[in-house]
Amino acid sequence: MTYKIAFIGFGTVGQGLAEILMNKRDQLRRKYDFECSVVAISDIMKGSIYLEEGLDLEKLLSLVRETGRIDGYPGATTGWDSLKTIRESGADIVVEISYTDIDTGEPAASHVRAALESGKHVITSNKGPSALFGRELVKLARQKGVCFRYEGTVVSGTPVLNFALENLAGTEIREVRGILNGTTNYILSEMEKGKGYEETLKVAQELGYAEAKPDADVKGWDALAKIVIIANMVMGGDLKIADVPCTGITGITLKDIETANQENKRWKLIARAWRDGDKVQAEVSPKKVPADDFLAGVGGVTNALTFDTDLLGNVTVVGPGAGRLETGFSILVDMLSIHRERSAVNLA
Ligand code: HSE
Repeated sequence: MTYKIAFIGFGTVGQGLAEILMNKRDQLRRKYDFECSVVAISDIMKGSIYLEEGLDLEKLLSLVRETGRIDGYPGATTGWDSLKTIRESGADIVVEISYTDIDTGEPAASHVRAALESGKHVITSNKGPSALFGRELVKLARQKGVCFRYEGTVVSGTPVLNFALENLAGTEIREVRGILNGTTNYILSEMEKGKGYEETLKVAQELGYAEAKPDADVKGWDALAKIVIIANMVMGGDLKIADVPCTGITGITLKDIETANQENKRWKLIARAWRDGDKVQAEVSPKKVPADDFLAGVGGVTNALTFDTDLLGNVTVVGPGAGRLETGFSILVDMLSIHRERSAVNLA
């Protein structure tokens, strides 16, 4: 089955996804009978293109590497805005990977709504829409008979959301506790080696871990958005971002790191959501974690999350929390889930 795809945003994640789709084309066709044709891309910085017969991804990636833009693609229609791209490109799946604005969710939330309203499946790694309007968007997708998938919003492609929703179905998740931001974990790990905060933040940005505005990482907002997505979408909570206490790592000094080390502890930015009667609560804050706590051993850009469940006790997922191919993969896995679901429907 061949799906037409439109990308809204073509930054690090979009380019990583394009590379995966290009390199895995044969494997995806052979193993899953999955084929796709990227027919449109709209990016606020790089321009926008539409080509009915589909873009050559190799040519596209060379173009963006060489010129920093996409609108020089030969033969493509240019100049469409994001909403026109969503509504008029004929895409079956809209991949929303524009920048995250955690205060308003915009413009991503409008993109997701427009795509669902017009009967298109949506996949996103953008935390804004899911953290602010997740349950509403799931409901809208159901009404329209399409899928809204967002695995990449939490811990990039490491399976957390789909895992909890699908593979832990039937258990009650009593608490979730973990390290949900790669940049801050990387910074804290490097500070343990005596490196300064500013220096390590710069490297995290160069490595593509940090958000466009690194305040989102270091002030804890990125981890906050992720724990709210888990609390609301997996644990059935109804949290608003503003309700959740959040402290980042900007106050942690090399001296604090050294003192913790002397106490056989490590500073970690811990995100937690837990049941409190019939409510779900959450918080994000740096904690001094004892060396024998599993999370103390999770260093660098790696993330880890422990689900405390009634039937299995603790189940922990550990893996990369950020990165170009890692987040690109999260979109691919959601595409394959949609394909699996649709194929089953078609066979029925
Ligand atoms: N900036 C985020 C992190 C990327 O460092 O974890 C994934 O949301």
